[in-house]
Amino acid sequence: MEIYLDSASLDDVKAAHDLGILDGVTTNPTLIAKEKVDYAKRLAEICGVCKGPVSAEVISTDFAGMMREAADHVKIAPNIVVKLPSTLDGLKACKALADKGVRTNLTLCFQTLQALMVAKAGAFLVSPFIGRLDDVGEDGMELIRTIRTVYDNYGMKTKILAASIRHTNHLLHCAIAGADVATCPLNVIQACMKHPLTDAGLERFLADYKKAFG
Ligand code: E4P
Repeated sequence: MEIYLDSASLDDVKAAHDLGILDGVTTNPTLIAKEKVDYAKRLAEICGVCKGPVSAEVISTDFAGMMREAADHVKIAPNIVVKLPSTLDGLKACKALADKGVRTNLTLCFQTLQALMVAKAGAFLVSPFIGRLDDVGEDGMELIRTIRTVYDNYGMKTKILAASIRHTNHLLHCAIAGADVATCPLNVIQACMKHPLTDAGLERFLADYKKAFG
């Protein structure tokens, strides 16, 4: 499974990149608003660190506006992926961009049929939001499982990018369900390498060694 960082913080991108396991980055308007920086400038900085797909989201909600913004985003770097909402206009923009060879990430996917439609339109990535479904009492992971089944039924090539991941248990179950990619905040990536028994075991090894050899 590929691991993307879900952040617009350059420090986070550098920290994840330094771990050697970073495959890509996703950003969104909320994440960029937290950073209070120019979006295009920050995307260029992120693309300077991470050579994998970097998702740049449009703010427009109409087809023409999305196409205009997409044209600007793709000029930033060759690894930019245009992030579009999973709406009817987003679907049209997805198809038009796919026809031009531009990679897209269809975001805010909350039902399997959205994922089916965007795959038909040639989306490179689809982003089902697990945490936000859990927040409203639904089972976010079930969405990953059903999209996997539908895509496998028809040999659809769109990659399932599990998003809105809040903790390591989400990440583990995405891997079990067969998500192609998971995008996570830095703390979730770091938590994958944390276990109290690892810390306790390391402490004991070092104490035993020190007792014997000083
Ligand atoms: C994905 O591309 C989104 O940026 C993100 O995963 C949303 O996560 P949230 O629901 O924690 O805001």
